[in-house]
Amino acid sequence: MITINGREFPARDGETVLEVARREGIWIPTLCHHEGLNPYGSCRICVVEVTAGGRPGLTASCTLPVSDGLVVETDSERVRRCRQVLVRLLLAMAPNAPVVRELAEKLGVTDTPFKRLGADKDGCILCGLCVRACEQVGAYAIGFAFRGVRRRVTPPFGKQAAACMGCRACEQVCPTGTVKFTESGDRLFGDTWQAELQVVRCPECGAPVGAQPLFGHVREQLDNTGIAVENLCPICRRKKLAGEMAAVCVQPK
Ligand code: SF4
Ligand code: FES
Repeated sequence: MITINGREFPARDGETVLEVARREGIWIPTLCHHEGLNPYGSCRICVVEVTAGGRPGLTASCTLPVSDGLVVETDSERVRRCRQVLVRLLLAMAPNAPVVRELAEKLGVTDTPFKRLGADKDGCILCGLCVRACEQVGAYAIGFAFRGVRRRVTPPFGKQAAACMGCRACEQVCPTGTVKFTESGDRLFGDTWQAELQVVRCPECGAPVGAQPLFGHVREQLDNTGIAVENLCPICRRKKLAGEMAAVCVQPK
């Protein structure tokens, strides 16, 4: 059992305080957390205060494992003050990002005394979600470089992201909308990482279905499994499946 805000809750081994709080409907803000990715603890906005049963003080709840007898507060005066400072720093890094502005409003913060810091990518808050997503799909096309205010996310040596497969996972997880891809003709451009990739088109209708290197990667992963990789678009795939089902199900009288 752990205690959150004076109430006891059951917790399973291996869970974090954030997971228990979410399951029990207790609000803890997050920015660098994603259920599909390993926790990293970079934004610290999920901070809670441990008051007993563990090392006392402020700590990130997304990386804090539960332990029997742990007592935490998610909305103490210290927690609120800490989150307000953090969101002021984030406002300096990403003043136009809706996710940051909404969070600032929720935390009662309207402006920031800090100057724009760090990352050269517009609105990047260095949460690292894009880096972890890229690692998890096995591309390793981007990573963190430099320290302190020069820290940023970049392809190796700041050059074109040669290892980018065009899966666009980084774009999907980026909370600030910093990561951008655009399509033009038969090319997919990873604008943020200076990547340029060939687009695969549906052989039936010609709709774009994804980037060439991604198909190659998926084929490689499914090699020897007997699973075929089709490059039909979702609509043509459904039509094909419907045709196959009809052929099996509709028996001639
Ligand atoms: S580009 Fe987006 S996902 Fe990547 S570190 Fe910056 S804010 Fe996070
Ligand atoms: S959500 Fe926990 S440190 Fe970012």
